[in-house]
Amino acid sequence: MSEVLNVGIVGTGIFAKERHLPSYQELSEKFKVVAAFNRTKSKAEEFAKLAGIANDKVYDNLDEILNDESVSYIDALLPVQFNADIVQKCIAAGKPIIMEKPIAATMEQARQIVKLSDSTELPVGVAENWLYLSCTDVVKSHLTEIGPIEAFTYNSTGPFVLHNKYLSTTWRQHPEHIGGFLSDGGVHQLALLTDILGEIESVSALTKQVRKQSGTDDIVFSTLKLRDSSVIGTFTYGSAFGSCEKSVFLKIYGLNGSILLNVSNKKNPYVEVIVGGSAEADAKTSRFEISQEDSFGVNSEFLNFREAVLNKEKHLLKSTPRKAFHHLACVAAFLKSSSENGNNVPVEQP
Ligand SMILES: NC(=O)c1ccc[n+]([C@@H]2O[C@H](COP(=O)([O-])OP(=O)(O)OC[C@H]3O[C@@H](n4cnc5c(N)ncnc54)[C@H](OP(=O)(O)O)[C@@H]3O)[C@@H](O)[C@H]2O)c1
Repeated sequence: MSEVLNVGIVGTGIFAKERHLPSYQELSEKFKVVAAFNRTKSKAEEFAKLAGIANDKVYDNLDEILNDESVSYIDALLPVQFNADIVQKCIAAGKPIIMEKPIAATMEQARQIVKLSDSTELPVGVAENWLYLSCTDVVKSHLTEIGPIEAFTYNSTGPFVLHNKYLSTTWRQHPEHIGGFLSDGGVHQLALLTDILGEIESVSALTKQVRKQSGTDDIVFSTLKLRDSSVIGTFTYGSAFGSCEKSVFLKIYGLNGSILLNVSNKKNPYVEVIVGGSAEADAKTSRFEISQEDSFGVNSEFLNFREAVLNKEKHLLKSTPRKAFHHLACVAAFLKSSSENGNNVPVEQP
């Protein structure tokens, strides 16, 4: 299909400029950014220059961009407490929407978005680029070799970055979204984990705030049980520490071996598969180096959303509100468990 989709951007901040626009420009035979709206208009005008958007398509309010019939869909990159509202308005205007993760600021809003997307045939997508990484397919293709899976360890830890550009955004400094950085970055990790192993049923967790700049708790150490399964595991997340190696990995333990997915170097993730039933076995180790393209899944996520829009078929979407609800619900469960001194709590379902 060669039809070019016309994109209307709402929220022309850091990620719109530094990742969404370059991705659309790389895929210029399939997408054209034609309109923009931002709370501070001067930033939308600056964005429009980079994107080649005509002056009269830099709008003063949301209604104007929603009423622009030339816009095929809305790509929203807002502080996430505004996601539910814009989904509602897009559906009312008959426009498909893809919005940036996490799905919402609260579970109530997340539930509302799932309901709204269930109520329409329009594609409503959550931009969760970690669902589109090629390393995931490599791991999945080797899972049966290591026998029944028994347990896993997910770790995403790193040093605090003092000059992190994202820390300068006021909505992150004073988070309305539950868990602050725990949901901001944590949902990516939960997306990768649950895409490979399945949904999480319950958690026991302790969270705490290490850096005052985070505005709320910023690390979690937890144990998890997968839904309808006896698989158990641990999930550790936080980039609030002093000097340490950035370490992002999933280790899956089976009765006949193990798989390590290491994403510490985003450009070159690798997968190591060890097949063998015990310490005495003549175990076979295979290593797969993966070259991850620069957009880290964003290009693929746009192409997937495009298929859903062009075919008017929301079921083609990989990154659905239901999936994104689960990722945020895990963070909500971590916080609830921690507030109860680590009690085991179920993960909410929509
Ligand atoms: N997938 C990823 O790896 C990734 C990475 C980064 C960000 N993101 C997501 O992208 C989204 C944007 O993040 P960002 O880092 O780009 O943040 P940002 O730079 O702060 O951009 C947010 C934009 O929303 C606008 N905005 C703020 N309050 C608003 C309001 N009340 N009504 C309408 N617009 C408002 C801001 O306008 P002003 O110019 O007026 O402030 C700003 O342009 C978030 O959902 C974030 O989670 C995803």
